[in-house]
Amino acid sequence: MRQQIVAGNWKMNKTLEEGLELTKGILEKVEKPKGLVVIAPPLTHLKEIGKMIKVRKYFHLAAQNCHHEPKGAYTGEVAADMVASVGAEFVIIGHSERRQYFKEKNDVLAAKVNACIARGMRPIFCCGEPLHIREVDTHVGYVAKQLKAGLFHLKEEDFRKVVIAYEPIWAIGTGRTASAQQAQDMHLAIRVLVAKKYGKAIADDTTILYGGSCNAQNAQELFSQPDVDGGLIGGASLKAEDFATIIAALK
Ligand code: 13P
Repeated sequence: MRQQIVAGNWKMNKTLEEGLELTKGILEKVEKPKGLVVIAPPLTHLKEIGKMIKVRKYFHLAAQNCHHEPKGAYTGEVAADMVASVGAEFVIIGHSERRQYFKEKNDVLAAKVNACIARGMRPIFCCGEPLHIREVDTHVGYVAKQLKAGLFHLKEEDFRKVVIAYEPIWAIGTGRTASAQQAQDMHLAIRVLVAKKYGKAIADDTTILYGGSCNAQNAQELFSQPDVDGGLIGGASLKAEDFATIIAALK
């Protein structure tokens, strides 16, 4: 069954103490969400925040990244096995910031997806086009290439574990969100691509999140679209009240 999810990607924000305070606030404000709530704090906070959210069965923990190799001489990196060992159930893979600032290419992203699934976690696989691609109207083809390169090598049973997050780069952290119609059109296009590869039943079951300046004011309109199954939230996930309002907007 397709799941509704709101995931908070904290990016590189909050000390452990601040993160625990934020989590406490979220737990206080969120009651009986209509879907799953996923928290993706910095790697250093996973274990402590995982302990805190364990009391609610619909709260889940995500890592923002992991390395694709199982272990070895990769100073500063953390393997899938390691984030799983401190409670991560999801891993965000292919975020545009990782693609842009850390030069993560499709082959590495596909390997990260494999590492994550092999360790029993679910990838939240990000895709999305830059502004110049949107302006020349080739965004569907651009995203199709990202999905083919990063995800479509998976066997059917593994693909079922994947959550897709559509995050148009021009909307991330800019305050310029995609319109509900733009989000719906792209989410439908992604679902059609999944259907072509894996069949309609799996496509109908795939969770596709929207990310990019999604906030307490616009979440309801975005989530009301038939192919938008929730959101991957950056800035607005750092305020308990706003994040709780976004969670309450799930359909
Ligand atoms: P903002 O919500 O801050 O635009 O970030 C979106 C995002 O990148 C989530 O992964």
